Parts: sequence; C-alpha cells; structure tokens
Amino acid sequence: MKIRVENYQDYLRISEVNTLAFARENEANLITEVRNSNFYIPELSLVAEIDDIVVAHIMFSYIELIGEERLRVLSLAPVAVIPEFQKQGIGSNLIKAGLEKADAMGEALAIVLGSPSFYNRFGFMSSAIYDIKCPFDVPEDVFMVKIFKNFQVKYQGEVVYPPAFSRV
Ligand SMILES: CC(C)(COP(=O)(O)OP(=O)(O)OC[C@H]1O[C@@H](n2cnc3c(N)ncnc32)[C@H](O)[C@@H]1OP(=O)(O)O)[C@@H](O)C(=O)NCCC(=O)NCCS
Repeated sequence: MKIRVENYQDYLRISEVNTLAFARENEANLITEVRNSNFYIPELSLVAEIDDIVVAHIMFSYIELIGEERLRVLSLAPVAVIPEFQKQGIGSNLIKAGLEKADAMGEALAIVLGSPSFYNRFGFMSSAIYDIKCPFDVPEDVFMVKIFKNFQVKYQGEVVYPPAFSRV
C-alpha cells in the first residue's frame, strides 16, 4: 500500500471512494466544498493506493476554535475505505500517517466526531478533557481531540465548523 498526497487527477476517484464507503454522496460533496474553500489543506488530504488504484482517502481541514482567541485547528473528516478493502488496516494506516504529518507540520490538535472504540486507539480523547466544546448535541465521548506536540492550554472554547459541514 502506498500513501501519498492527493492531486487533481484523483478527484473523481476520491468522490467515488467516498460514495462507495458511505453509500451516499454527502461526504464526496463535502470534500469538494472544502477544496474550494480557505479551509483546505492540500498536504493533509491523502490517498492510499493498492496496485496504483486509489482505495481509500482521508481529509484533514481547518475548523475554528473560538474562546478567548479565535484559533484554527484540524478536523479529521471524512475518512473512507472502499468496502472490499475495509478491515485490513488501511483506514488505520491513513489515520496514523495523517496525524503524524499534521504533528510534523506544527498543528496543535485534530478533532473527530466518531466512534470512541475506533478513534481512542490513535490517541483521541473526549474533547471535554481539554475544555473544548462541541457545537452539536451528541454524547460527550463521540466528540474527540488528539493533541500534538504544539498543543497549548489556550486551545479552549467552542468549535465552529464551516457551513459545508452542516450539509453532511
Ligand atoms: C471506518 C473506516 C475508515 C475504517 O477503515 P478500515 O480500513 O476498515 O479500518 P481498519 O482495518 O484500519 O481498522 C478496523 C477497525 O475499525 C473498526 N471500524 C470500522 N468501521 C467502523 C465504524 N464505522 N465504527 C467503529 N469502528 C469501526 C473495525 O471494527 C475494526 O476494529 P477492530 O480492530 O477492533 O476489529 C472504513 O471502515 C470505512 O470507510 N467505513 C465507512 C465510512 C466511515 O464510516 N468512515 C468513518 C467516519 S468519518
């Protein structure tokens, strides 16, 4: 398996991968909207290839954390592996690769909304531990934060997602 940064020639296949994985088009549309916004981070949108075919994709993009300061943090969403290749470690490898790169780039933290039993293994913990508030009415443990070496206590407040996320 090869992990690399996405490029424009992958866009159609990435839409397909997400539509297959989620069995709907919302996530593929979200990716397109994020790419066309200031929140896009090209270096943190990664694909996994097997035999030169893209079988999985992950996107980290900017969201805002508003407390005493207005700060940019990362959102991990979406991550998708095509059904035939799920449960073979590909999703985990993509998540680890993305987190390592984000840390190396000097980001402070990444946020994910998902299953704790899956994301805890990568070091994600309930956001409440860090005084980071979720804007959605969801159980506390599903809104999680992974801190990087550049994390500082000033990273507190309420998360604000760009409008594109409200359509997912
Ligand atoms: C979630 C997903 C990205 C994981 O990728 P993957 O390559 O299948 O996962 P891995 O093989 O690395 O890891 C497998 C583990 O993930 C768990 N897992 C897979 N999908 C899960 C889900 N939706 N919720 C909770 N756990 C999940 C498996 O149960 C397995 O756990 P185990 O190791 O304890 O047995 C992939 O299954 C997928 O694309 N699912 C559909 C889209 C989706 O739900 N994306 C995530 C939300 S943004």
